[in-house]
Amino acid sequence: MTRKASAEACANIALIKYWGKRDAERHLPCNGSISLALADLRTVTTVAIDPSLTADTLALDGHPASAAELGRLGKVLRPLRERAGETACVRVESVNYFPTAAGLASSAAGFAALALAAAAAYDLTLDEPELSRLARIGSGSACRSVPGGWAEWHAGTDPAGLDSFATRLAPPDHWDLRVMVGLVATGPKAVGSGAGMAGTVATSPFYAGWLQGVAEDLPVARAAILARDFDTLGEAAERSCLRMHGSMLGAVPPLLYWQPATIAVMQAVWQWRQEGLPCFFTIDAGPNVKVFCPAAVAADVERRMKFIPGVTGVRASGPGQGVALSKAHLF
Ligand code: DP6
Repeated sequence: MTRKASAEACANIALIKYWGKRDAERHLPCNGSISLALADLRTVTTVAIDPSLTADTLALDGHPASAAELGRLGKVLRPLRERAGETACVRVESVNYFPTAAGLASSAAGFAALALAAAAAYDLTLDEPELSRLARIGSGSACRSVPGGWAEWHAGTDPAGLDSFATRLAPPDHWDLRVMVGLVATGPKAVGSGAGMAGTVATSPFYAGWLQGVAEDLPVARAAILARDFDTLGEAAERSCLRMHGSMLGAVPPLLYWQPATIAVMQAVWQWRQEGLPCFFTIDAGPNVKVFCPAAVAADVERRMKFIPGVTGVRASGPGQGVALSKAHLF
């Protein structure tokens, strides 16, 4: 008999960034972070327990996963199997409704959906902190896609990571902002975020400054979200983004994810603000730029972004929900 469950999760964009781990195996971060889930960047994952299999299988957008991806899958499944007292292998399929591995955090949505679908397939009921911790084992930022909406990942201090999970700061409908993902490149990136963080922590003299800045920015961003103070949140988010990338530039070898079009969007956003258009940018470990703004000016921002040379597409999204079970199985 095959037991099957599917779950759907949104990607999230960090406004105060996660950069650097104190424990790479468990994805325990050196700093807390704050994010917004993106309703239109979604992943659906189906998990089927199949006793006839001799190994777990994983397909991502219809392609067999790499050994590294299977390794991450195994790390998420192991605690569930132990808890359920099961040994049977699973077949997993995951479909992203946005370009993968281009700084759009597809792994965040994928591991959040995997955590819930796998728990349900093994007939386990996990509470939100448990699910968030489980998703974190797959990919750090995935823990923020579990509560969805406006979420904060608490770095925690426990060596086992029991206090390192995300909670909801506010529901998606708390504040109607729009995030425009400006696509600059859609291919896989040369240096993944895990390797990029490790290099920065180990070699960048700017890393200590990054940690000091983020400790100051977290309460500012948290309060700005709760008060719907757009300028204060935007300034903190741009600062967090630029300081994170600054810490990478100081690494040996240096790490630069930006393309010329990335910088063109950043400079355009600064120019638009001068003209009175409320918008700010943020950039993850890739060349794409996300510009966020109040819903009322979203169409204007989107239209302007499309005119910037090197921007190949713009994907607009509003605030998204947390992970949820889905009845629509992929297979
Ligand atoms: C720049 O969560 O992808 O997007 O924990 O190694 O899987 P791993 O890293 P990942 O890193 C995301 C880094 C970031 C900032 C952020 O999302 O907070």
